[in-house]
Amino acid sequence: MATSAQTPFSVPLFTPLTIRSVTLPHRIIVSPMCQYSSEDGFASNWHLVHLGSRAVGGAALVTAEATAVTPEGRITPADLGIWKDEHIEKLQEITKFIESRGSIPAMQLSHAGRKASTRPPAKGGTFISRSEGGWQHVAPSPIPFRPEDGIPHELTEDEIAEVVQAHSAAAKRAVAAGFSIPCSTAPGAAGLNNGTRKRYSRGPVPTVVAAWTI
Ligand SMILES: Cc1cc2nc3c(=O)[nH]c(=O)nc-3n(C[C@H](O)[C@H](O)[C@H](O)COP(=O)(O)O)c2cc1C
Repeated sequence: MATSAQTPFSVPLFTPLTIRSVTLPHRIIVSPMCQYSSEDGFASNWHLVHLGSRAVGGAALVTAEATAVTPEGRITPADLGIWKDEHIEKLQEITKFIESRGSIPAMQLSHAGRKASTRPPAKGGTFISRSEGGWQHVAPSPIPFRPEDGIPHELTEDEIAEVVQAHSAAAKRAVAAGFSIPCSTAPGAAGLNNGTRKRYSRGPVPTVVAAWTI
């Protein structure tokens, strides 16, 4: 049977896609979607159903939501996390189920930086101060995300290295949990602002530094 002409800008949806050592059977993928349904970062049956049902639906790749690499890096107190080994067991059950349906499990590793310590969107998305049960959030510069938010702790360069290290440790846990593709997006801990540019005035901003280092 003749196949249609293929260019880099026109790829048949139902053809395989190889990303390094992983080959997706087709190109329908589920992007990460925050569920705000965790306690202390733990996955639960909520996540099993949320992600598992996408695998049942036939997606080639199912990506777990933005998953915090440190407790301070959570957007909200209800974020999924992977900052400790205890998180691995339930995630393993989920990845096994996804794979049993022929899908490939991926996880988005995340650090919310100056966007951390907020209420879930359904509860307004507003900043949670420490006196209200929030935590001291961190960023490369002491510049709040919104004027009404708390001022983030300005990370030292050693502390930035710790955040990078937390991504590395989290990636190893993600692999141990069965995620074939642990990926990281531009960490919220970085961000383009004047303070950041000052410290890295000769080079790229920490988002890029972190991506290279990880
Ligand atoms: C409920 C919900 C949660 C989301 N959570 C994340 C997330 O955890 N990480 C992320 O990078 N994007 C997140 N997004 C953005 C989506 O992954 C996706 O990029 C976005 O919806 C654009 O795709 P669309 O045009 O197909 O909707 C979320 C979107 C929705 C609707």
